[in-house]
Amino acid sequence: MSPGEKLDPIPDSFILQPPVFHPVVPYVTTIFGGLHAGKMVMLQGVVPLKARRFQVDFQCGCSLCPPPDIAIHFNPRFHTTRPHVICNTLHGGCWGVEARWPRLALQRGAAFLLLFLFGNEEVKVSVNGQHFLHYRYRLPLSRVDTLGIFGDILVKAVGFLNVNPFAEGSQEYPVGHPFLLTSRRLEVPCSRALPRGLWPGQVIIVRGLVLQEPKDFTLSLRDEAARVPVTLRASFADRSLAWISPWGRKTPISAPFLFYPQRFFEVLLLCQEGGLKLALNGQGLGATSLGQQTLEQLRELRISGSVQLYCVHY
Ligand code: GAL
Repeated sequence: MSPGEKLDPIPDSFILQPPVFHPVVPYVTTIFGGLHAGKMVMLQGVVPLKARRFQVDFQCGCSLCPPPDIAIHFNPRFHTTRPHVICNTLHGGCWGVEARWPRLALQRGAAFLLLFLFGNEEVKVSVNGQHFLHYRYRLPLSRVDTLGIFGDILVKAVGFLNVNPFAEGSQEYPVGHPFLLTSRRLEVPCSRALPRGLWPGQVIIVRGLVLQEPKDFTLSLRDEAARVPVTLRASFADRSLAWISPWGRKTPISAPFLFYPQRFFEVLLLCQEGGLKLALNGQGLGATSLGQQTLEQLRELRISGSVQLYCVHY
């Protein structure tokens, strides 16, 4: 891109904040675009063997003096005879009434995955994929713009995600698929077998980071005969995203081009009757049609190009 060239403005909701790996605690970061219903924060970590307590605070600002209001204070405590979690809100320097949850699913010495799912009225928290608590907001969620992590915790990764747009209205709890950093299985080009093809309702999730000076990013689905009924391709030269047919016909996808060097992306493909629906960074972007038989006969997912992958799941 030449220096004078203007980029199309991109709606805020299209941009995902990159995950953070192995941050040093205490760790405080701005939540890009703040929090709103439909956002998720995923925290992968380990509780040290001698942990007394840690806290994950969703704060309104980050001033040190006076201390900021804390809309959601999530505070596991391990040093008592019965480990538990306290949630509370700090408003104008005063703590409210504590809410307390016994039977803490986090354990000293164990790795965990916490998922904070922000709704309209409350936040839901799951631990290792199991719903653990919900806490009603006492301060407006729109005031929250900062995440703070303090205390006895080793943080492996913090991710900021949007709820799967295809799951709207679903009662199912979103699954937090962990980020992997050093898995050989995620080396690019990356190939995954689809032993039973694709069926309506199945979702493919690909998360990663675009490398510096990228050329392209390709996700293709192949069948037993190594035919490629469908390919999704991002070309950086002309900043376009398109479906490519087996005959090389290109169907452009009209959406802001979201693949930027060093930036995080998430591709979701939902298999449905007659095709695949696409979402990028949590935004639905239409579908491509494919017959049910073609979908069932798919056997391999291949990802190649200028990306580093953190998660490939289906
Ligand atoms: C206090 C504690 C604070 C916070 C608060 C929550 O006793 O000092 O750090 O956890 O409880 O109610």
